[in-house]
Amino acid sequence: MEQKSAQGRTAAAYDRIGVGYKKARRPDPRLAALIGRALDGARTVVNVGAGTGSYEPPEAEVTAVDPSQVMLDQHAGPRKVKAGAEALPFADGAFDAAMAVLTVHHWTDLHRGLAELRRVSRRQAVFTWDPEHRPELWLVDEYLPEIRELDRGRFTAVAEVAEALDAHTVLTFPIPHDFTDGLQTAYWRRPEAYLDPAVRAASSTFATLPPSVVEPAMERLRADLESGAWHRRHAHLLEQRNVDYGYRLVVAGEA
Ligand SMILES: C[S@@+](CC[C@H](N)C(=O)[O-])C[C@H]1O[C@@H](n2cnc3c(N)ncnc32)[C@H](O)[C@@H]1O
Repeated sequence: MEQKSAQGRTAAAYDRIGVGYKKARRPDPRLAALIGRALDGARTVVNVGAGTGSYEPPEAEVTAVDPSQVMLDQHAGPRKVKAGAEALPFADGAFDAAMAVLTVHHWTDLHRGLAELRRVSRRQAVFTWDPEHRPELWLVDEYLPEIRELDRGRFTAVAEVAEALDAHTVLTFPIPHDFTDGLQTAYWRRPEAYLDPAVRAASSTFATLPPSVVEPAMERLRADLESGAWHRRHAHLLEQRNVDYGYRLVVAGEA
């Protein structure tokens, strides 16, 4: 039987779930502005776990790195390298900056990957989610507590990421109510969206949980939306424009 490396398994996961990613995961201009400011002035950028190329600064010369061929095939850029963060095939200091957006939780060896970012670049910007942050999304609390266990096993505390990078700045990114990049919490004020299988398929958490877990939970959500129970419980959310669900941009290295 073929033995796959851990890295091969994450690449295989995105080779399976990455189809359709581009449609559901449209880069959000507000997050693009935050990442753009962190990368300002960098002429050469390596985007590790680049996926389809979201949030790459348009004026920079970007090299996209990803272990998944399905993701690289959806990336429009001219410089694409199939590799994992844990062994970047570049010389020391090859880039002005490195970026890693919503990817470090997929790496098989986070510390090795972060050390590789520091080795190949003079500045690093890592966007990730803090599993220690509260509040949780209502979806986890009320419908799919299985997500909590899964995500705690995958995500590393932001404080640990910041320490590994020797970061000088950690910026909070509250999720806007109309966020366009369909990550797990994107639809906190648009609960009907979670009923759409295409929306769920673009989130690796949903895609990892078995249908036998997800489908009954979505039926309960559908019933609560139809009866008005969800809206009664979450009336306070409908008045908010942004909620801090624990997403952070960690910035390190030369300014
Ligand atoms: C949620 S997607 C994020 C893609 C992109 N950065 C974005 O913001 O849309 C996670 C990406 O991490 C990639 N990935 C998985 N394992 C990796 C590894 N070991 N090293 C680098 N990237 C990896 C996946 O193939 C996938 O493209």
